[in-house]
Amino acid sequence: MSAHPPFSILARVYDRLMEDVPYEGWAEFVLAVLGGEGFSPRSVLELGVGTGNALLPFARRGLEVAGVDASAAMLAAARAKLPRARLLQADFRSFSLDRRFDLVYSAFDSLNNLTQPADLQAAFARALAHLNPGGWLAADLNTPAGLRELWREEVWEEDGVRLEYGYDPASAIGRLEAWVNGELEVHLERGYTPDEVSRLLENAGFGAAFCLVYPDGGEPGPQSDRFWVFARAPHRAQGNSG
Ligand SMILES: C[S@@+](CC[C@H](N)C(=O)[O-])C[C@H]1O[C@@H](n2cnc3c(N)ncnc32)[C@H](O)[C@@H]1O
Repeated sequence: MSAHPPFSILARVYDRLMEDVPYEGWAEFVLAVLGGEGFSPRSVLELGVGTGNALLPFARRGLEVAGVDASAAMLAAARAKLPRARLLQADFRSFSLDRRFDLVYSAFDSLNNLTQPADLQAAFARALAHLNPGGWLAADLNTPAGLRELWREEVWEEDGVRLEYGYDPASAIGRLEAWVNGELEVHLERGYTPDEVSRLLENAGFGAAFCLVYPDGGEPGPQSDRFWVFARAPHRAQGNSG
């Protein structure tokens, strides 16, 4: 049987699987960290907007919201929740909108879907091209330790959904086979360390990055499974958004 593209059939059940994800807490955390930096965004662009759950807390607070995602099925669900948002079907590495934002946000390890560091750097460069001078990027990523723990050989099954996880420590790449009512799609994720991500951000043109663990706000350690990275765009505009 041939597999469907990632996040196509899973879109049908995605929100049911995500019931316990702290979307509101993440948004509050990120806004509090940025507030501590003296920054209060008025517009936000999410990379990997999915079904829109992570953008909703920003829309509820009155921010202008927009999103990019490769999956038409995920975007269809997002459009139903966020009818006024600008939602673009495109790849992180090459997307182009005709405007800039105060905040580029990426929740729930969307960027780990880029399994090559050069691709992650390309996505950061596109993020920077869409940030206002002095704007911020805030992204949540899985570490290699997190993928090793969360994606170790394991099967989860409920109501017609079967998730089969695997992890290759040599490449730090996890593989998820997601079955929905007998149909298959495959996801790959690479774990990134805070140091790797900070270096890729600086290579892409951002200022010095810092990494924090939700919800306590401590620095990530060797056992941290995921972290939020924050990096600021230079105050002079870089490149262009087109
Ligand atoms: C785990 S979901 C997260 C969705 C949403 N941010 C949330 O928190 O529920 C990852 C999303 O990233 C998107 N994605 C993965 N790789 C992508 C790429 N290279 N370009 C654009 N979107 C991508 C997928 O289609 C999917 O919707």
